[in-house]
Amino acid sequence: MSPTTRMTAREIARWKRKGRKIPVLTCYDFTMARILDRCRIPVLLVGDSLGQVILGYDATIPVSMEEMIHHTRAVTRARPYGLVVADMPFMSYQVSPEQAVASAGRLAQRGRADAVKLEGGERSCEAIRRIVAAGIPVMGHLGLTPQSILAFGGYGVRGRSGAEQERLRRDARRLEEAGCFAIVLESIPAPLAAEITSALAIPTIGIGAGPDCDGQVLVLYDMLGLFTEFEPRFVRRFLEGGALIENAVREYQDAVEQGVFPSAEHSYGVEKRPEPRGSEE
Ligand code: KIV
Repeated sequence: MSPTTRMTAREIARWKRKGRKIPVLTCYDFTMARILDRCRIPVLLVGDSLGQVILGYDATIPVSMEEMIHHTRAVTRARPYGLVVADMPFMSYQVSPEQAVASAGRLAQRGRADAVKLEGGERSCEAIRRIVAAGIPVMGHLGLTPQSILAFGGYGVRGRSGAEQERLRRDARRLEEAGCFAIVLESIPAPLAAEITSALAIPTIGIGAGPDCDGQVLVLYDMLGLFTEFEPRFVRRFLEGGALIENAVREYQDAVEQGVFPSAEHSYGVEKRPEPRGSEE
């Protein structure tokens, strides 16, 4: 693939065949999209986790289609190399397959998403078939599906019982048959994720699903140490970003309070400012 070519859903599927791991990160704005683009992250997920980490909601349930379009547009304006996958928000696809196609169309047309993601197994298959038939690639999402929080009542590990494991295996096969180009597996036992991964031709993208998935996804603000309200066991912080930002903000605050910012070099039409009082030796 040439350095100027953008990633496609088909190419992501080829990465699995070549045994190449797929690093995925969530992304919600233009500046972060530019940074992820410089790193050539192949998939940028505009997750509805933006409800919690950007908008301060207590769940993904309140996230609206307008909010998803707004953030997807911010990411796609950066024209990243990576495939931009937008989450379909709660109640934008559950009503009917017709509603699902119309919602996916809005994310592609107004948000300029390259693909959409939606949650659920068998129950979502008709919607997936119709969206794929309309020409929009779909990523599935199984295991812990945060939009089902009202039914499940918690964010614990899924697939612990034999019956649940069997249902997850069947749902994964159904999503592949329905035309998904990849499936997120969230918070399920690692051996089950490994088994599903080797049974499918399409890539699995794990989050809290162990090391054997074809790719991994993390919420960007979690791995940068910016969002610390909720810290699941599977998150690794690759940066203590919250602490770094706090230090920078305190330095700025001190500099303003002491009158040393802005200095002459950060001011227009000023040769050199007098040193602040009390700073001379
Ligand atoms: O919304 C999101 O960020 C997600 C990922 C955690 C997979 O769905």
